[in-house]
Amino acid sequence: MEKTFLMVKPDGVQRNLIGEIVSRFEKKGYQLVGAKLMNVSRELAEKHYAEHKERPFFGELVDFITSGPVFAMVWQGNNVIATARAMMGKTNPLDAAAGTIRGDFATSVGMNIIHGSDSPESAEREIGLWFSADEVLSYEKTI
Ligand code: CMP
Repeated sequence: MEKTFLMVKPDGVQRNLIGEIVSRFEKKGYQLVGAKLMNVSRELAEKHYAEHKERPFFGELVDFITSGPVFAMVWQGNNVIATARAMMGKTNPLDAAAGTIRGDFATSVGMNIIHGSDSPESAEREIGLWFSADEVLSYEKTI
């Protein structure tokens, strides 16, 4: 079953949006298989955003993601990588459609509430970076 890495960024945690965001993915039908509220080290932030290292906003990005707790998650389900991206909306919240997470809750490209893996390769890399194998559960829904 496909898995993806999603993270409520510090702005989403500060704005009490963890529940709203988890609820959207639960209601869609996806299964939460890993989750933790955590502070992010600069080392982890720099590894996570390594592909943006040469961008002018890289420093800002690392400063922001390390500025307060994030809620890191692994979600599982049919086509979850692409569907979660669609549910998040465009990276720049000003371009994100109403009904998406960024479209409904954000106005700034830097503080855009949520991160989600953009491909199967990124999902595998990011899940491995943020979670140890025993933190990603496998369980059957019984009700
Ligand atoms: P995310 O999906 O976490 O991946 C890279 C992040 O870079 C992106 O979300 C944005 O929050 C951030 N980003 C993209 N463009 C800019 C920008 N021009 N200024 C600041 N942050 C940006």
